[in-house]
Amino acid sequence: MRPDQLLARIATLDLLEMRFPENRCWGRNDALDPALSRAVDDLRARLEHANRTVYDSIRDEIRRGDQPQSLFHWVRLALEQENSGAQGYSLLDEIISGVLQFEEPQGEPPPISLEMVAYQPTPARHIFAMIQQLEFTPQDVLMDLGSGLGHVPLLVSICTNARSVGVERDPGYVKLARQCAQQLNLSRATFLQQDVSDADFSTATVFYLYTPFTGSILRHVLDRLRQEARGRSIRVCSYGPCTATIARESWLIPPRGAHSPEFQADQDRILIAEALPRCS
Ligand SMILES: C[S@@+](CC[C@H](N)C(=O)[O-])C[C@H]1O[C@@H](n2cnc3c(N)ncnc32)[C@H](O)[C@@H]1O
Repeated sequence: MRPDQLLARIATLDLLEMRFPENRCWGRNDALDPALSRAVDDLRARLEHANRTVYDSIRDEIRRGDQPQSLFHWVRLALEQENSGAQGYSLLDEIISGVLQFEEPQGEPPPISLEMVAYQPTPARHIFAMIQQLEFTPQDVLMDLGSGLGHVPLLVSICTNARSVGVERDPGYVKLARQCAQQLNLSRATFLQQDVSDADFSTATVFYLYTPFTGSILRHVLDRLRQEARGRSIRVCSYGPCTATIARESWLIPPRGAHSPEFQADQDRILIAEALPRCS
């Protein structure tokens, strides 16, 4: 199978999953013909093996510390295939999950309070758009507040020269994020198992929040970020429902060059804001 047909293979695997779900318990009347079942399993295995070959070669490129040109190539192609109004997860998330290869989290997650939000990753197309807009320098440190499996810090580390830190309260996710960073030699990405309320913000220059919490916890964290902005310049990026609150913060403004109408809480886009210089 040809490496250049990755996207077609992912689409075919999706179709197979829709038509012949792997974990479906077939009833007596709709059980698959054994020959068809074997053919589907065989096709699925061959497609997955071919994709794995592509993902492993991208992983080798990342491990060597090179700019992962083959990953950028697939990201470009996947984004071209998406229509501009695409929402939710897509082909690109499939590719990123093939490259990062997380294991299944083990154990029960710690209980969450009413104001905390359970894990869900940011759709990959938004992460790439944010990375492009932020134009990171080697002096930047991105901190993902509530980092889950770590997609954002990991991709920042893969695609830029900046450092990144994930802060996450669930030890299961932190373990898997660290494992991924280690397997890919991403020494600029670190993960702290901590409540965001206890985290040290002093080294980060860019903060990212995909609605990890709401209400009084969000208020407390935004007040701490505002304190940070008194002494130095920081940027704050957010996605999901907490964006409406963040867009109303008077000490945050659109990034230089952006028009103010762009500084709106958009349901399906990451908001990027700069702190007003020496805001009080
Ligand atoms: C919506 S997910 C976002 C995950 C990740 N930032 C991403 O975009 O892929 C929110 C994450 O925040 C974590 N979280 C919620 N409250 C937290 C807190 N107080 N301290 C640290 N992590 C927290 C959750 O465990 C969950 O993994």
